[in-house]
Amino acid sequence: MRQKIVAGNWKMHGSLVANQQLLTQLHAALDGYGGATFAVCVPAPYLAQTQSLLTGSAIAWGAQNLSAHKAGAYTGEVSASMLLDFACRYVIVGHSERRALYGETDQVVAAKFAAARDAGLTPILCVGEALAERESGMAEQVIARQLDAVLAVAGIAGFARAIVAYEPVWAIGTGKTATPEQAQAVHAFIRHKLAMVDEGIASRLIIQYGGSVKAANAAELFAQPDIDGGLIGGASLMADEFISICKAALS
Ligand code: PGA
Repeated sequence: MRQKIVAGNWKMHGSLVANQQLLTQLHAALDGYGGATFAVCVPAPYLAQTQSLLTGSAIAWGAQNLSAHKAGAYTGEVSASMLLDFACRYVIVGHSERRALYGETDQVVAAKFAAARDAGLTPILCVGEALAERESGMAEQVIARQLDAVLAVAGIAGFARAIVAYEPVWAIGTGKTATPEQAQAVHAFIRHKLAMVDEGIASRLIIQYGGSVKAANAAELFAQPDIDGGLIGGASLMADEFISICKAALS
């Protein structure tokens, strides 16, 4: 049985004052809950604050991006080992905003995935199709291509300690959630594709859904057989919403 994981993706939001309040509320409300894993992926400058407020809590933390390189002349970049210095467990890799706005190709994403894994972080690999790709019947092809790039670099073993997040681009921040059936179909496709390479790894793989998850729709999404929790953007910035979503993942 896979345990569900709910991770918040704060994106470029937050401040020391706002984070203090949000993290303190999450810590108090989620204390003592087993049966699911909770995490927040915060902007890198707030990792120290997050570590200090969440150490000893039921909530893990991570970052939203990393460099594919270990160290060197890469101005502005943050390495896997730097994230480990702040006890990160997770790092989001290949979010559609990074692919679309920062030109991250499938190959760049695969290199980042490998860098995270090699360092001992758990990458949360985002995959998903844009609206035009869905409408032209290309969704599975796009997702297969995104997965194949990672398989080529990290192999199926790379997925043994990784999370995949299916995030249809048309559902991110738009209020348009994929229906539970639409999401389930793609999750099953992802699991089946990887199962053709290694059934055991595919059956244990956590596949999160992301895209306008809210307290009101989390339970029906998480009830689908291949949806193992969520990657939550906007709603992860509101304590009550995020706490409800986390609780919807408890089995
Ligand atoms: P959203 O974002 O929940 O605000 O749609 C999800 C994400 O981008 O990870």
